[in-house]
Amino acid sequence: MQKIDKLHLGIMVCALPFILSFWGCASLSDNQTTEDYTPTVEDSLTFQQNEHLGRGVNLGNALEAPAEGDWGVTLQAEYFQLIKDAGFNAVRIPIRWSAHASSSAPYTIDSAFFDRVDWAVGHAFTTGLLAVINMHHYDGIAEDPSTHKERFLSMWEQIAFHYQDYSDSLLFEVLNEPHDQLTPNLWNGLLQDALNVIRNTNPVRTVVIGTAEWGHVQSLKELVIPVEDRNIIVTVHYYNPFHFTHQGAEWVSGSDAWMGTTWTGTTEEEQAVIDDFDEAANWAQKYHRPIFLGEFGAYSKADINSRTRWTDFVARQAEERDMSWAYWEFCAGFGVYNQGTSDWNYPILKALIP
Ligand code: GLC
Repeated sequence: MQKIDKLHLGIMVCALPFILSFWGCASLSDNQTTEDYTPTVEDSLTFQQNEHLGRGVNLGNALEAPAEGDWGVTLQAEYFQLIKDAGFNAVRIPIRWSAHASSSAPYTIDSAFFDRVDWAVGHAFTTGLLAVINMHHYDGIAEDPSTHKERFLSMWEQIAFHYQDYSDSLLFEVLNEPHDQLTPNLWNGLLQDALNVIRNTNPVRTVVIGTAEWGHVQSLKELVIPVEDRNIIVTVHYYNPFHFTHQGAEWVSGSDAWMGTTWTGTTEEEQAVIDDFDEAANWAQKYHRPIFLGEFGAYSKADINSRTRWTDFVARQAEERDMSWAYWEFCAGFGVYNQGTSDWNYPILKALIP
């Protein structure tokens, strides 16, 4: 073993605080956490942005269908005003860009489709709503991430370029519910790549990033986002208990057997929700990130009293923890609005906005 002389020992002792602080920094960027992290002005702006997002609704089953209208919803100009007048602050617009971009390089997004998204965002803005646009139902990136990565990033490059001059009322959400082969680990890499692409043209745009494994709260602990980017809102989805919220859902196999499942708000039922929201809130506090509950809802096959009770309880749990939220969804199977009668589904609306 090499002897350490006094001089070297002295140097080491003097350097110790620097070494330790370096370790501190290293652990900050590895784990994105530290008790002694001092939130910056940028942090508070992002928390403010999340407050503006406030209460929202998903314009679901429209632009994320293979073609708009395929799933029974074609967006109407009057929807935006209705949503604003009911007291919502924001719309989340799920979008299946992958159905409107060429399959080979340079993966050009159809300009007519851009026009349609511009129209939707434009109406959100003129009525005073914030808009979150995302990438929804890009099946390829979940099934085979390495093959689809280039196309995924290219689409984001185009979207980011297209909207670079839009105001900060527009937020980008990188990907809806990463899952399947897009593991938490791969997702952490891909979200960083997407963020790099977006930041080239949108240095100050708020970007929304969700968790892997379908956006579950429990996957927050696997999420790694770049610690130096403070303009990120983290998003989770909430559909627990799944047998209640997805009973009879045609796209969930076996869900017919769950029909008749109620949610009466027993202490046990409430506690399960509270525990999940506490987990999310604890994560948020540890990593100094605001949380957007980007989807929650119970399908219309559940009884309306249970749906109303659950929706109210979940929305209040989010609000108590300063989370913004967006109900899933506006006027289809979970609808807070009824297209048939051109009127609100009042029990759900009152549960959302008491
Ligand atoms: C996810 C899916 C959407 C579905 C919703 C409720 O957002 O992408 O299609 O309707 O969850 O299951």
